[in-house]
Amino acid sequence: MKQQLENIRLEALAALEAADSPAALEELRVKYLGKKGELTAVLKMMGKLSAEERPVMGALANTVRAEIETKLDEAKASIGAKVLEAKLAAEAIDVTIPGESVAMGHQHPMNQVLQEIKDMFVGMGYQVVDGPEVELASYNFSRLNIEEGHPSRDRSDTFYFNDEDSILLRTQTSPMQIRYMENHQPPLCMLAPGRVFRKDEADATHSPMFHQIEGLAVAENITMGDLKGALVTIMKKIYGEDSVMRFRPHHFPFTEPSCEMDMQCHKCHGTGEVDGNVCSTCHGEGWIELLGAGMVHPEVLRNCGIDPDKYSGFAFGMGLERMAMGRLKINDLRLIFDNDVRFLNQF
Ligand code: PHE
Repeated sequence: MKQQLENIRLEALAALEAADSPAALEELRVKYLGKKGELTAVLKMMGKLSAEERPVMGALANTVRAEIETKLDEAKASIGAKVLEAKLAAEAIDVTIPGESVAMGHQHPMNQVLQEIKDMFVGMGYQVVDGPEVELASYNFSRLNIEEGHPSRDRSDTFYFNDEDSILLRTQTSPMQIRYMENHQPPLCMLAPGRVFRKDEADATHSPMFHQIEGLAVAENITMGDLKGALVTIMKKIYGEDSVMRFRPHHFPFTEPSCEMDMQCHKCHGTGEVDGNVCSTCHGEGWIELLGAGMVHPEVLRNCGIDPDKYSGFAFGMGLERMAMGRLKINDLRLIFDNDVRFLNQF
């Protein structure tokens, strides 16, 4: 029996030494120490021993068990460490591998131009404000001196929401003049960019939704000279110092006198022709229309509780898409709205 125990001891210790996984260790534990294990089997035979031999063998068996248990714990610890090491090695991050680049978006070209324009006006002391796209006819028309029956109020041009034609999608940003003057006393300078809506078919130069930038300055002694000064300064900053501008008389119900501002065509330099052909940029006009403007009509000031005998002002409204097209040399309005990344990525 002594020999048996000695064999178990040697065999078990060698096997534990060689084991290389937690599963293998568990198998060995069961094999040697388990209820049906080899050591247990030997102990079961103790009863057949003589009274003198029994305690000696018992002590020996306990020593063997203790040795195997100690070895088992050691092996467990060292295999655990090895498993952890292997896991860490497998999961290691190589910080020297070049990263995958993330595709970054950027501002829409039209918003880039809007930002430029806003920055310039803010630099001149204008406050930038926002207003509703669903507007009352009184703000969009009546209080701007646009009477009932005026062609721009026609249902074929304007999106109305109700039968009385009193609620609509604003057709211009000019109602912001009224909204601002209702709440601010002169001297005041405001800029109101935003969407406007008209019943237009979409083509290269028209869209049922587009953007305008409204401007308004009211104070004592404001003149048409201030209007020209502000607008020429801005346009030269946008289109270059050498660009040529002109003002043409025009009519708007809410300004008096009214004008439109044109820029000499940068492609044909005002001749309307390129290599004997009609200039495609200005359609032979030689000039490109930039905006409508004028001195705020006294009636409009009065509609907002401002005394026209004391104060005067100018207002203008420019098309943002048109400004962006000119600034970035884009020839079709629809490109601005299509949002094709191959187009957008060029800016
Ligand atoms: N609201 C006018 C338009 O849409 C432009 C404009 C604004 C004209 C302010 C004069 C003053 O055509």
